[in-house]
Amino acid sequence: MKVRKLVSGALIGALTLFAATSAAAAGNAQAGSTKSMFCAACHGIDGNVPYLSTRLAGQSTARFHDSMMGFKAGRRVHPVMNILTLGLTEQDIRDLGMFYASQKPADLKDASLYWRLGGSGALGAAVDETIKLAKADARLAGRLSGGCASKLKEQLCAATGGPCTYTGRDMKAAHTGMKITEAEFAAVGENLVKVLDAFKVPEKEKSELLGLILPLKPQIVGQ
Ligand code: HEC
Repeated sequence: MKVRKLVSGALIGALTLFAATSAAAAGNAQAGSTKSMFCAACHGIDGNVPYLSTRLAGQSTARFHDSMMGFKAGRRVHPVMNILTLGLTEQDIRDLGMFYASQKPADLKDASLYWRLGGSGALGAAVDETIKLAKADARLAGRLSGGCASKLKEQLCAATGGPCTYTGRDMKAAHTGMKITEAEFAAVGENLVKVLDAFKVPEKEKSELLGLILPLKPQIVGQ
């Protein structure tokens, strides 16, 4: 009994810690906005001053994180950024990353896939349209519900480097027991491509997006 209590106590402790660290690992754009005041001198209030030609506004959270960790570890050398990043914690960097990812870029050269696809409005509309097509598709009768739309939007926003944190279950857990077939997965993909074409998404962005989705297939099909 005592042992069991100890184990369950430790488990709850570990789970709480996990929840705390995963929440902490997600950046907070509002906190990032406050922390960005000092950066504004060189990069502009919203990160839209193209300092030495790169713009922080609308950059993907992953690219921003890589650059900052690179400066901090000395893998990337620039005296100002090397000194500046020494004083920043991992959480500061995630908050700043979320803030800059949420700022609309004045041009799309350094922008995340999220902004190149048109930001939250366009991504949201693409998800809604794809679900609408799936609902009307005899091959998928009753298989896709509108209920997953908001989690899907959040997941796509996060995966394309936008200012979101995915709070849903992992793909395997989310599809367990659904027994989704190869043909059903392909049918959803076909519908998505139809929507992207209707939205006139350029080939480059289309293939980047499909390149993010296709590797998830083993976690979705046959679970
Ligand atoms: C005194 C001017 C100055 C300040 C202040 C400054 N930076 Fe920079 N930053 C630079 C310069 C110069 C570069 C270009 C370095 C290079 O390309 O090697 C740079 C590059 C970067 C990059 C890499 C961009 C890319 O895509 O390659 C990031 C990210 C960045 N800064 C973030 C920040 C953040 C966040 C802050 C505030 C905490 C900040 N900077 C404050 C001057 C500054």
